[in-house]
Amino acid sequence: MMVVSAKSVVCLCFLFSVCHVRGAYIPQKMNRTILNLLKHYNISKEEKYNGQLVFSKEAIPEKLLEKRVFMRGVLETYETLISKMLKELPTPLPDTTGSKGGVGEGGAGEDVRTELNYILQKVLELKKNQYKEHDNLLSSLKKLISIKMDNATVQSKALGELPWLYEEASDLNNEIQSRRRRRQARKVKTHQRG
Ligand SMILES: *[C@@H]1O[C@H](CO)[C@@H](O)[C@H](O)[C@H]1NC(C)=O
Ligand SMILES: *[C@@H]1O[C@H](CO)[C@@H](O)[C@H](O)[C@H]1NC(C)=O
Ligand SMILES: *[C@@H]1O[C@H](CO)[C@@H](O)[C@H](O)[C@H]1NC(C)=O
Repeated sequence: MMVVSAKSVVCLCFLFSVCHVRGAYIPQKMNRTILNLLKHYNISKEEKYNGQLVFSKEAIPEKLLEKRVFMRGVLETYETLISKMLKELPTPLPDTTGSKGGVGEGGAGEDVRTELNYILQKVLELKKNQYKEHDNLLSSLKKLISIKMDNATVQSKALGELPWLYEEASDLNNEIQSRRRRRQARKVKTHQRG
């Protein structure tokens, strides 16, 4: 009995990996919630299908490490975006009149709030569980972008720091090139042998 169930688990895992399709990671509830939210955040068909993505697919790097750092940035962007959307929701008014209309409107807003909060929570979970180690790299990149370039002190100091940074950057490039050369040499060797 135990053996059989272990076997079927293996089978299932195998099946899962073979049948792994896009969307396998999206919980049904999350998918439904997004569809629901899109009813609220509706835009015209022309805008929706104008072929311009907010997150362009070409921008996603192919190399694994680069991709991970980039995807962490994407998650963080969603964190900021959804927080902003939450802030823009009308604050629930205290129900003083007891009129049905007011309650209905407030109710719809609260649904959206609940749904946005759920999506935000899913994004934060993924970021926390799988992207913790890239915290530092991304914040370093952000610091780089936020350097005050019109400040004379910054300009002078940056100039002074260029020699060692230039060397670091050149070194890295050499290293990548020599790795590539080694790889190619190995390929040629195996090719000659074969
Ligand atoms: C999300 O829901 C839509 C509509 O029900 C469905 O067509 C789509 O396949 C679902 N996607 C995922 C990833 O479950
Ligand atoms: C969005 O609005 C259009 C009309 O402007 C309507 O035809 C469409 O069904 C709406 N979409 C959703 C998801 O509610
Ligand atoms: C320029 O940057 C330096 C060092 O960060 C800072 O002390 C100084 O106040 C800045 N000057 C201006 C005009 O912002």
